[in-house]
Amino acid sequence: MTADPDTLRSDWTRRISEAGDASALEALRVAALGKAGEVTALLKTMGSLSPEERQERGPKIHSLREAVTAAIAMRKSDLEGADLDRRLTSERIDLSLPSREAPKGSVHPVSQVMDELAEIFGDMGFAVAEGPEIEDDWHNFTALNIPEAHPARAMQDTFYIAGRDDLVLRTHTSPVQIRTMMKAGAPLRIIAPGRVYRSDSDATHTPMFHQIEGLVIDRGIHMGHLKWTLETFLKAFFERDDVQIRIFPSYFPFTEPSADVQVGWSWEKGRRVIGGADHWMEVAGSGMVHPNVLRNCGLDPEEWQGFAFGCGIDRLAMLKYGMSDLRAFFDGDLRWMKHYGFRFLDVPTLSGGVGA
Ligand code: PHE
Repeated sequence: MTADPDTLRSDWTRRISEAGDASALEALRVAALGKAGEVTALLKTMGSLSPEERQERGPKIHSLREAVTAAIAMRKSDLEGADLDRRLTSERIDLSLPSREAPKGSVHPVSQVMDELAEIFGDMGFAVAEGPEIEDDWHNFTALNIPEAHPARAMQDTFYIAGRDDLVLRTHTSPVQIRTMMKAGAPLRIIAPGRVYRSDSDATHTPMFHQIEGLVIDRGIHMGHLKWTLETFLKAFFERDDVQIRIFPSYFPFTEPSADVQVGWSWEKGRRVIGGADHWMEVAGSGMVHPNVLRNCGLDPEEWQGFAFGCGIDRLAMLKYGMSDLRAFFDGDLRWMKHYGFRFLDVPTLSGGVGA
């Protein structure tokens, strides 16, 4: 006597609907539909039925299989829904709680120094300006009084964009001078910190590095303003009054006259420290904005003058915080970050000390 499909059907669908969890349900699926399952066994009897019996029992057996399959799917989705509900009610994150564990991440020295610079120059009335890292030839060179075929283009080891000879990765932050003057006119006082790119790599050069540009445009601006600004900035940045600077004649196509700025440093317990005049390190290029640059930006050099400077941020960080290899800045080594990184709460403020 073989089992009655209708009885089996109500029996199995009830048991399936009562399955308490995913593993109980899976056990029922195997017992019904698995290789040796009860429903499977019934399907196997079909071959030995007489044509009349098959006509009578066949549809019942097939609908039994379908009903069992559907019941399993439904129970499965019910159990999953219930599981999600249970987790949603039992697992909670209280976002208003301060975290108990100390945060693991740290602020990269370059980011920290950029914040310090914004704080120092903000106090002197400078706004922060930005420009694109993929720059066009005109802003990066031509408008800065570096015409095509000028040797200064070769001086800067430019990265060009493949297939686009009008685009470069900006080689310095000076194109932000152009963009700001064209947009905001005069007078203005800005700094522009950001990434710049040159095809160069050794212990003190990486193909991507950071600069900060300074630009002041106003009436009656002269080199004295430039010198005072750089001195005041470097004293605030290194938090020492004995910071000494030297200014040398130099050459940049976009400034006239141009000047290189060096800062004095000495050895103290095997570390370079700023201050004194034992050794000198170059920290910035600078000068009076060239009349051609002013004209290129629609300003009349008879009315407006300005000074500009460009300074390597990574080098400032190395000098202030004592790192010796620039390449380590961009290796992403967590041990280095742990040693040289800053806590995210070390926000530089002039009152609290920009040194963190
Ligand atoms: N752009 C110059 C450089 O990258 C630095 C500079 C900026 C010099 C502004 C003068 C004025 O070397």
